[in-house]
Amino acid sequence: MAPARWLPPVFVLMAGGGLTGACRDPGLTTGSGGGSGAGGSAGAQGVGGTTEPETALIGAPLVFAPARGALGVSAVVGRGLAADLVASIREEGTDTWSTDTVPTHPADDVAEWRFTDLAEGTRYEYRVVANDAGEPTALYQGTGTTARPPGEPFEFVILSDTHIPPREVLPGDVSIEDYAEDILLSLADPIRNEEADFLINLGDTLDFHLFGFNDPPPDGSYTRQGYLNYRRCMKDSIGHAVHFPVVGNWDGENGYYTADQIAYSREQRMRYVPAPDDQGFPEGGSPNQDYYALTWGDALLVVLNVMSYTEVPLLLDYPMGVPEDWTLGPEQLAWLETTLADSSARWKFLFIHHAVGGAAGDYANTIYGRGGGLAANVGEQAYVHDLMVTHGVQTFFYGHDHVFTDMVVDGVHYSLPGSAGAPWKFLGVETGYTDYFTDSGYARVEVSPDSVSVQYVSYYGYVLQSYVLE
Ligand SMILES: [Fe+2]
Repeated sequence: MAPARWLPPVFVLMAGGGLTGACRDPGLTTGSGGGSGAGGSAGAQGVGGTTEPETALIGAPLVFAPARGALGVSAVVGRGLAADLVASIREEGTDTWSTDTVPTHPADDVAEWRFTDLAEGTRYEYRVVANDAGEPTALYQGTGTTARPPGEPFEFVILSDTHIPPREVLPGDVSIEDYAEDILLSLADPIRNEEADFLINLGDTLDFHLFGFNDPPPDGSYTRQGYLNYRRCMKDSIGHAVHFPVVGNWDGENGYYTADQIAYSREQRMRYVPAPDDQGFPEGGSPNQDYYALTWGDALLVVLNVMSYTEVPLLLDYPMGVPEDWTLGPEQLAWLETTLADSSARWKFLFIHHAVGGAAGDYANTIYGRGGGLAANVGEQAYVHDLMVTHGVQTFFYGHDHVFTDMVVDGVHYSLPGSAGAPWKFLGVETGYTDYFTDSGYARVEVSPDSVSVQYVSYYGYVLQSYVLE
C-alpha cells in the first residue's frame, strides 16, 4: 500500500462542489401539477389567488428497508404540511402507479410510507405528491430496490463518520458552513452515481462538538436538526438507495448518558433515519433499530451498536475505565451469536462503529476504541472475533478512525472505509496503523454468489485500495 498522505483539515470549496441543483431532482416528473424538486424553490405558490404556501421537502426522501419485500420512504416537509402528502409506487419500467397512499407521521414534519408485498430483488419507482392547493404537485420521484434473493449480484456503498452538525436547514438549502457539510455534499453525487442497492453509514453520522467532547446534545431538537442536515447533505443518494444507519459515539446515544438523554436522541434517529427493527426481517434485531440483521442476495449483513450498552465513559480526554469495558451487552451479544450461527449465507459481514475493545497508538486512543484489527483479541472483541472465525464472517467493517485501512486477522478482514465528512484524519501515532490513507471517501462493495470486491474510493474519484473475496 502506498504511504499514508495527510490532508490538512482545511475548508475547501470544490469547483462545482456537487452543489448545483443539489436539491433539484433531475428525474422529477411533474405529475399533474408541476414539481419543484426535493426542497423546491423558495416562495409561496399562489393558486387561484390564494396565499396557500407551497409544500416543500427538506432534502430528498430517505428510502429504507423495513422488511423483505418491502420499501419504506420517509419525507420531511420544511414548508407546508406532512399530512398533505401522498405517495405511490410502481415497478421500474412499468407505466401504472399504485393508488395514492396516505402516510403515517412519526413526527409532525415527517410523512412515512411502508410499501409491502413487493417482489424481492426488484427496483421500484416511487413518487411523493402534495395535495396542498387543489391540484396535486409532484415533489419528488425516486427509486429503491427490495432485498434480493440468493444468486443475484448487487452493489452497496459504505460511508462513515460524516460528522454533520445540527443547524436549521430549509427547503432547497445548499449552503455550506463547515468542512463536513462540504465533503458530504460533494461525495453525495458519486455515491448516488454508484446506483447501489443500499448505503450503510457506519456511525458518527452527526456531530455535537459544539456541546463539548462527546457530551450529549441538550435535547432532541439538536439531534433532529443534525439528521435533517445530514439528509440534506446526502442529496439524491438517499432518494435512490436504501439507507442503513449505525450508531456511533457522536450520535447522542452513548451508554454513559442518562436514560433520558439516550432516549431523546434515539427517538429522533428512529423518526428521521428509520431502520429495520426486531419485527421486519427474519434475522430480527432490536426494537430500537440500533442493531439488526438481514440477508441481501448471498450476504448476511449484521449491524451492531457498540455505543449504547457500554456504561463506562471511555474517552480520549477523560482517562477512566479500560478498553476491556467495551461491550455489546448480553442481549445483543447473544443475538449476534444466534444470528451468525443460523445463517447459511455465502458471505457474512459485520458493521459497527468500532471494535468492542481497543488497541491503538497510545493508551488514550486505545481506551477510545481505536485500532480495528489491532484490537481483535482485546476484551469482548476477542469473543466477537472468535464468533467471526467460527461462523465464517469475511469482513468486520468499522469506522471511528477516519482513515482507510484494512488488516487481516485469522482470515477476517478488519476494513475501515475512511470518512465522508470528518475533518480529523487520525495518524499512526494515534491509531497504531502503519498502512492507511487519509483521503475522505467511501467504499464500494460488489457482491456476487462467487466473489466480493471491496474498493476504497477516494474523494478524488480513484480507487485507493481493493481486495477480493472468493
Ligand atoms: Fe468519528
